[in-house]
Amino acid sequence: MRKIGVGIMGLGTVGTGVYKVLVNNADIIARRVGAEIVVKRILEKDQTRERGIAVPPELYTLDVNDILNDPEINIVVEVLGGISPAREFILAAMNKGKSVVTANKDLIALHGQELFETAEKNNVDFLFEASVGGGIPIIRPLKQCLAANNIRLIYGIVNGTTNYMLSKMSLEGREYEDVLKEAQAKGYAEANPASDVEGLDAARKLAILASIAFNTRLTINDVYVEGITKISARDIEYARELGYVIKLLAIGKEENGEVEVRVHPALVPIHHPMASVNDVYNAIFVRGDAVGDTMFYGRGAGELPTASAVVGDIMEAARNLLCGTPCRIGCTCYEEKKVRDIKDTASKFYVRMKVVDKPGVLAAIASVFGNQEVSLASVIQKRNIGPLAEIVWVTHRARERNMQDALQIIGGLSIVAEISNVIRVEGEDD
Ligand code: NDP
Ligand code: HSE
Repeated sequence: MRKIGVGIMGLGTVGTGVYKVLVNNADIIARRVGAEIVVKRILEKDQTRERGIAVPPELYTLDVNDILNDPEINIVVEVLGGISPAREFILAAMNKGKSVVTANKDLIALHGQELFETAEKNNVDFLFEASVGGGIPIIRPLKQCLAANNIRLIYGIVNGTTNYMLSKMSLEGREYEDVLKEAQAKGYAEANPASDVEGLDAARKLAILASIAFNTRLTINDVYVEGITKISARDIEYARELGYVIKLLAIGKEENGEVEVRVHPALVPIHHPMASVNDVYNAIFVRGDAVGDTMFYGRGAGELPTASAVVGDIMEAARNLLCGTPCRIGCTCYEEKKVRDIKDTASKFYVRMKVVDKPGVLAAIASVFGNQEVSLASVIQKRNIGPLAEIVWVTHRARERNMQDALQIIGGLSIVAEISNVIRVEGEDD
């Protein structure tokens, strides 16, 4: 049987999982590909760490050239993470005619175009299934199985840390700081969890998903981002009373040739399929004009789930090497589409505020909403705090621009002590 050589860059969480799957499932992988996949070299600084599997010491190197210049290495797996030197290493590998598999969403969401163009120029594969949703198949389904559809809507729960936190707050009534500590202790959140809780990790994944779904090049800089740092147990409780759960949603929409890409917390109706995605699980909901609604669900991170997707990509690259691929799919961003400014989008809104509790206050606030063309669906007085009353408004669908104008005027009224939170409502009218 022919042998195909693999070089792994980075033997951390994902790299170790990849090595384990390649070794432990070597037999079925070889039979399914029609060639033996052999790890020939591993670039890694820490060569002594206990990894739960014996790694022959001669595989390790500290010099990337041992991978780049080895003619028996046909496929390079980049799982170092970060932008540099991962970018330079990937470009060098492709320029030497090697196919590349990566899980690096940070890099693709910023430099995707350069990476795809380099792959095309060299007629090699550049595969990245693990970059969104960890072990969940979503990149290949979008590029292949759903390719016949016009895709108009994507909802993603694509950050496990924040989904774990919001689930705990929702199911156990706990506060943000408390569940963040727990997520860190369990190793879900990054050492610096800002990229998770401020929505940047989800935004990178959305840039990748939406580029493929809408066939237009989007980077993280195109994505409007709000994290979950302002969500309180009270918002979650009130949302539940109204029939919603709060999720950090990555939203991609296309309408009239324009795309919307935004990541923010959203009230999702409890009967929506995304509402039942809990704990560290991820899900991606895709609506196609032919297929209707589909949902991809599973583990969005972790050693073996992520390795499952990486090794699947290695196997595809290996098959392509064996058979030759004059028509590999490659980059699918063949159109330029305008990205809609957040102020030109429309949503329903949940607004929680503290106001002076006296006659005429609600009417005064309602008239500001009305003057700015924000139509109200409901208003509930939740509780009294001394002379103040806590009020929750839910609007009908309104332009973001009008909503922001209304809130600016309302925030300046002497009868309004505080606008405590404003959260968009999704999943009802699309
Ligand atoms: P880790 O930090 O666990 O692993 C990276 C490894 O690469 C570390 O062992 C690191 O060594 C080593 N390394 C980094 N730079 C170099 C270098 N220049 N030379 C030699 N060794 C180097 O990261 P993960 O495995 O968690 O993540 C890898 C990639 O996969 C990232 O792009 C991440 O976003 C992505 N990903 C991760 C998921 C997960 O569940 N962890 C899920 C989906 C995607 P040292 O620690 O000594 O620096
Ligand atoms: N920090 C990420 C998460 C890891 O919580 O989902 C996977 O990309």
